[in-house]
Amino acid sequence: MSKIKNQALAKDGNKLLDWAASRMPVLASIRQRFEDEKPLSRLTIGIALHLEKKTGILLRTLTAGGAKIAAASCNPLTTDDSVAAALAEEMDVFAWTDQTDSEYYDCLESVIIAKPHITIDDGCDLIQLLHSKHSNLLDHVIGGCEETTTGIVRLEAMHRDGALKVPVMAVNNAHSKYLFDNRYGTGQSVIEGILSATNTLIAGKTVVVVGYGWCGRGIANRLRGLGAKVIVVETGATNRDGSSGYHRALEASYDGCWVMSMSEAASLGDIFITATGNKHVISENHLGAMKHGAILANSGHFNHEIDLDSMESLSVSKETILPNVEKYHLKNGKDLILLAEGRLVNLAQPTGQGHPIEIMDGSFAVQALCIEYLAKNRGELLPGIYDVPKVIDDDVARIALEAQGIVLEKLTEEQEKYRQSWKEGT
Ligand SMILES: NC(=O)c1ccc[n+]([C@@H]2O[C@H](COP(=O)([O-])OP(=O)(O)OC[C@H]3O[C@@H](n4cnc5c(N)ncnc54)[C@H](O)[C@@H]3O)[C@@H](O)[C@H]2O)c1
Repeated sequence: MSKIKNQALAKDGNKLLDWAASRMPVLASIRQRFEDEKPLSRLTIGIALHLEKKTGILLRTLTAGGAKIAAASCNPLTTDDSVAAALAEEMDVFAWTDQTDSEYYDCLESVIIAKPHITIDDGCDLIQLLHSKHSNLLDHVIGGCEETTTGIVRLEAMHRDGALKVPVMAVNNAHSKYLFDNRYGTGQSVIEGILSATNTLIAGKTVVVVGYGWCGRGIANRLRGLGAKVIVVETGATNRDGSSGYHRALEASYDGCWVMSMSEAASLGDIFITATGNKHVISENHLGAMKHGAILANSGHFNHEIDLDSMESLSVSKETILPNVEKYHLKNGKDLILLAEGRLVNLAQPTGQGHPIEIMDGSFAVQALCIEYLAKNRGELLPGIYDVPKVIDDDVARIALEAQGIVLEKLTEEQEKYRQSWKEGT
């Protein structure tokens, strides 16, 4: 049933999966319990996640719990074909790298045809397709989980319009996810993606980071550690979590970055990294003002943060100079270098490995426990977006600490009492 690139790659894929599994203690402990309790038996789980080694360990954890899996990627460029081959020996996989847009959507359709009871999305595509084209199947759906900020933004829009008909767990919003994955995971892997594509030196470069949310903070602060001069571009707009872009801009300034508008930053940057979840944050005028040889990379979910149509229309020609690295020859005589077609550089770059394994151990542990939560609460949850229960969030952090051998201080009875009291001031 699976549709993948090459089954003969399974041996290599299994090596990658073994390596990832050896560094994912939180999922290992969940998998052990799932093997005993089988909380997901008789459930089909539809997946749209970047199909690479860490995701494979999540999928194996879910099958250990008794689930049947139908899996596609959430991005046309991010499947690891060897991992897809290894997984296809155990479950239905519809994914290969370098898909056209129509192949990508065909694969999502294949997942939907499997009639999933629960979905896991990274960007909301499965849930969106279920609602827009397969609403007849919605009665069958217990709920979904969403991995990333952009997916949550889309879900919130669906919910506001009264269109969301199933409960969805906002996995992205768990502390065990965004505090570590968006900040440290994206922070490290985006820089890794840029370096492995270009082999360029960061020290001494002026790097413009557009967006100072969880991802932008992680990227900017790691760049500073590598000796970059970091410019942050932010807006004054209010964010989903109620924080304003003013606070984020001020935070960037206090963190030691220069903060300015994109129009000011455009002519100064050697490297530009977008991390906003917004559209055309680098647009035609900015592109025209950039230095000869400037490098552009995106870390946001969709490939529309950089205005690629304008990049084409400003150019006389473009050429692929390295794997997934394109040089645009602009009419103004300058060249701009675009990485990974403007898709998320940490995953879409052929050499990009995505987030570090230990980071995804935490994020995917939240996913696995939220899937179990949805299964246990079948029929109890109204359509809407649900926060990850605190007990799940805390458990994941606790197990991750234990796995590192970290022992925490325990509050004394006196300290517990003091924290509860309003009478004792000194
Ligand atoms: N590459 C990855 O592996 C990865 C990992 C996690 C999240 N993401 C994606 O990265 C994006 C950002 O995620 P986040 O969690 O940091 O989001 P966030 O909402 O915390 O931060 C986004 C920031 O961008 C700012 N912004 C919006 N429009 C802007 C503009 N025109 N100019 C400058 N700043 C602007 C907002 O004010 C906000 O501070 C999302 O698309 C998310 O899905 C990618």
